[in-house]
Amino acid sequence: MKGLITAGGRGTRLRPITHTKNKHLIPIAGKPMIVYAIEALKDAGITDIGITYNHDLDSLVNTLGDGKKFGVSITYIHQPSPIGLADCVRVAKEFIKDDSFVFFLGDNMVAGGISNFVQEFKKSKANFLLLLAQVPDPQRFGVPVFDKKGNLIGVEEKPQKPKSNMAVTGIYIYDKNVFKAFEGIDAIKPSSRGELEISDVHQYLIDHGFIVKTVNATGWWKDTGQGRDLLLANRLILEKHIDFKISKTSFISEDSDIQGEISLGNNSKIINSTLRGPIYIGENTVIENSYIGPFTSIENNNIILNSEIEHSIVFNDSKIFDIENRIDNSIIANNVMVKKRVNKPKVLNLMLGDHSSIEI
Ligand code: TTP
Repeated sequence: MKGLITAGGRGTRLRPITHTKNKHLIPIAGKPMIVYAIEALKDAGITDIGITYNHDLDSLVNTLGDGKKFGVSITYIHQPSPIGLADCVRVAKEFIKDDSFVFFLGDNMVAGGISNFVQEFKKSKANFLLLLAQVPDPQRFGVPVFDKKGNLIGVEEKPQKPKSNMAVTGIYIYDKNVFKAFEGIDAIKPSSRGELEISDVHQYLIDHGFIVKTVNATGWWKDTGQGRDLLLANRLILEKHIDFKISKTSFISEDSDIQGEISLGNNSKIINSTLRGPIYIGENTVIENSYIGPFTSIENNNIILNSEIEHSIVFNDSKIFDIENRIDNSIIANNVMVKKRVNKPKVLNLMLGDHSSIEI
């Protein structure tokens, strides 16, 4: 069995961050988001992995390489333009050949991995297996519809009155029959928004009599396409899914107060500060006279001075100086400067890129 992960798309909902960063490389507790998908596949015994991209090949290759460091082999597959999830499957035909494969949207995260899901596919002899997850807000997702015998007959997209609180996740397993959806006169066509929809592929498989089954995820599942979901994924990862380690080359001053679990990378320094975990702090980061609250990931080479921050993600090389209000529920990308203005007049001095969002 192979794996196929998406790393393209437009990422419009995560602008302005996605103007300069592929969303799949956004760090969550020390790892680029897509690495969680690679690890889930590896843990399920799948090491031959294709990654589809339509931009940013260099940054993907610089970060992931040929996959050896994760114990897998990665093949990069070009999707000429982001015209739909089904198109990611279509362009991967040559890589997949006659194998069955897990199709894993690279911005999805699932607790507890996918080993059970893969085992279920092998046992079930299904042509197509769909991972479902319980969600509090099914109106935002595709909700499966079953007949009286419990067979899947369709998926209702974003229903106003959902029939259950189960959502279709972005993790699927197909056998080679999936490629039939792109062949012949009844091949799926672009939708009204001009995309080859994965839901049309699924309807094709159902309508053409293929064996379609579903499995319920045992833990949480997150689609991190929006900022609030990204922060929630960060929280869920920090809650249960990281090994907290304090590097021997890091430093915590005696006048600092550390509560709960924290991870602290090489050469990072905590000086006269209060940290209330769970918190991930990467390398070469200095926290001084500050408070860092729960569910915060701060990556490498940052300086936080005389400030308070919690439930947030800070990428690399940023400076946060003398901020009186607590920074909360925030995503701060690379090379950002946030500082208090000391000179009069007391005004806001802003330099914000396109699609920035601030609440003052
Ligand atoms: P989406 O989140 O549906 O789309 P997007 O990433 O373009 O984001 P937005 O809606 O905010 O503009 O995509 C789900 C996953 O599929 C994600 O990993 C990106 C990827 N993708 C592709 O690789 N190619 C595509 O053509 C599309 C539509 C998405």
